[in-house]
Amino acid sequence: MSILFHIRIGPADVWIDGLRAEMPGEDIRLWPDAGDPEAVEFAVTWRHPAGLFRQFPNLKGIFSIGAGVDHILCDPDLPPGVPVIRLVDPVLDSDMTLHVVHRTIHYHRGYHRYLELQQAARWEKVPFPETGERGVGIMGLGRLGRRAATTMASLGFTVAGWSRTAKAIPGVACFAGDEQLPAFLARSQILVCLLSLTPETTNIVDSKALMQLPQGAFFINTARGGHVVEADLIAALDSRHIERANLDVFATEPLPPESPLWRHPRIDVTPHVAARVNPRSACRIFADGMHRLRAGQPHPDAVDRVRGY
Ligand code: NAP
Ligand code: GLV
Repeated sequence: MSILFHIRIGPADVWIDGLRAEMPGEDIRLWPDAGDPEAVEFAVTWRHPAGLFRQFPNLKGIFSIGAGVDHILCDPDLPPGVPVIRLVDPVLDSDMTLHVVHRTIHYHRGYHRYLELQQAARWEKVPFPETGERGVGIMGLGRLGRRAATTMASLGFTVAGWSRTAKAIPGVACFAGDEQLPAFLARSQILVCLLSLTPETTNIVDSKALMQLPQGAFFINTARGGHVVEADLIAALDSRHIERANLDVFATEPLPPESPLWRHPRIDVTPHVAARVNPRSACRIFADGMHRLRAGQPHPDAVDRVRGY
């Protein structure tokens, strides 16, 4: 049997070497060299071409090279019944928390303004509210959102979170469902998106949602570009209802050079680096998952394909 590795962007060597180190003696193949289609037992993938997995009749599991599985579930030809497994890795959790903390504090304290002031050689102090007076809202209270929310709360921010199902998280005001979204947005001076991308959450950050945020709010998107209506965000920034945004993820990646997002004076672009997948720890996690599936055990991180995450 074989393990097929597929990645759309970036060097594959580190992954192939990592998988071989974790699973010595296995037939590990780099797409498009899949070999005998009947022998492919597991696939490890990031943004595969639609229909790819249909040709492997003995596939036992599809592993995402990332926490998100939208890039797999969007394939209308996904073979039914094959578990799709998201990446759950403490290294990734920690990186995401650091990105959210860094960006939130950057905007809260007005550090973005010092870059401009230095250009003008102006010695000026930017005012900022007490930490407890700053409302931070985290959309998505899953693995990454919950950790970001509790960390921000531990730093003294007034934190709220919003999710599909109701939650109780100490130190975090929890909101759930479409009905409670306006109340959640109204208190989010800094809004962080950490939702999974599903048909229900696609384009959720549109002009209606943005206008429900307090005047002068900041927006940090570290989930998926598909959550945001780009034109609505640009309009909200241009009207100064939204003060500034950090976009780490985009509907089209890499972000095309002609995109207006690159040049907007109050958008800070980062190239999908909030939490990079660490090949060393991820290969260990993939190998462990394959051993479980081979032993006939359910995988704890298999996603609900109907729910979409
Ligand atoms: P997760 O554990 O699956 O959590 C998803 C959260 O979204 C859950 O709280 C879920 O609510 C909520 N949600 C889903 N549909 C919703 C809806 N219709 N209304 C309200 N809430 C909804 O995912 P995660 O591991 O925290 O990761 C979140 C996302 O981060 C990933 O899907 C990925 O896109 C992104 N990500 C980005 C990077 C990067 O480098 N930029 C790195 C890693 C991950 P419930 O809790 O009620 O189910
Ligand atoms: C990255 O975007 C991930 O889903 O891990």
